[in-house]
Amino acid sequence: MEIVHTIKDLQAALAALRAQGKTVGLVPTMGALHAGHASLVKRCVAENDAAVVSVFVNPTQFNDKNDLAKYPRTLDADCRLLEQCGAAFAFAPSVEEMYPEPDTRQFSYAPLDTVMEGKYRPGHFNGVCQIVSKLFEAVKPDRAYFGEKDFQQLAIIREMVRQLKFPLQIVGCPIVREEDGLALSSRNARLSAEERQQALKISQTLFASRDYAKSHTVAETQKFVEDAIEAAPGLRLEYFELVDGNTLQKIANWEDTSYAVGCITVFCGEVRLIDNIKYKE
Ligand code: PAF
Repeated sequence: MEIVHTIKDLQAALAALRAQGKTVGLVPTMGALHAGHASLVKRCVAENDAAVVSVFVNPTQFNDKNDLAKYPRTLDADCRLLEQCGAAFAFAPSVEEMYPEPDTRQFSYAPLDTVMEGKYRPGHFNGVCQIVSKLFEAVKPDRAYFGEKDFQQLAIIREMVRQLKFPLQIVGCPIVREEDGLALSSRNARLSAEERQQALKISQTLFASRDYAKSHTVAETQKFVEDAIEAAPGLRLEYFELVDGNTLQKIANWEDTSYAVGCITVFCGEVRLIDNIKYKE
């Protein structure tokens, strides 16, 4: 595996592959890689001739500077994992490389980006679209891979690709969980042992709500999740929304959609965790 730090070097290496008619896949990441990322990278390796994995903590998507400062940075360990997964390139640019000048572009995909994370993290998806579009322009991948844990991000990126006509395929990949159910996240590394135990209640509640939903209304299921999280020690619910998986708008009845998803954000101590579950698809 080659580790490259500049767009110029990456493009030179990819041009040689493209000249031989090879396909290129991209997995954008912010590093602190775990088995969830590994599953994306392995799929990218399997479906393309060469897999590029970007490792870049993108400052423009952090509306909370403290969160940016605390975001784990583990490039050496990340590169070891990427090598094991069979990636051809780790692309680890500096902030100056990706943002030689301030990015003033505005991306707006309302109503997808005005709800949930868009409401609680103003500017977050604008920053995500800034960096992801720059990566698409730099790498020009045939396919790009994103996890379903960031369910809203995936929907917004699909919409950006559709509207801006990026000639590539977006591949959404299922959430990877710890054996006990906790969704894998780079932020889990910041949980104390006690918080790690408390955080388990998030996925447990979502799984229980899927059974509960079979014989209860949307409003009852909403209350079931809210009550369970609010009663759980160490957790603070930011939001839980039952939405249509395509439009991300709230549903009132199960019959409103054939694709119902519950999206949740919970603070466990200082750590903000997200998860989601499909009720109907
Ligand atoms: O999902 C992430 O880790 C980030 O939002 C992404 C897509 C790598 C953009 O920085």
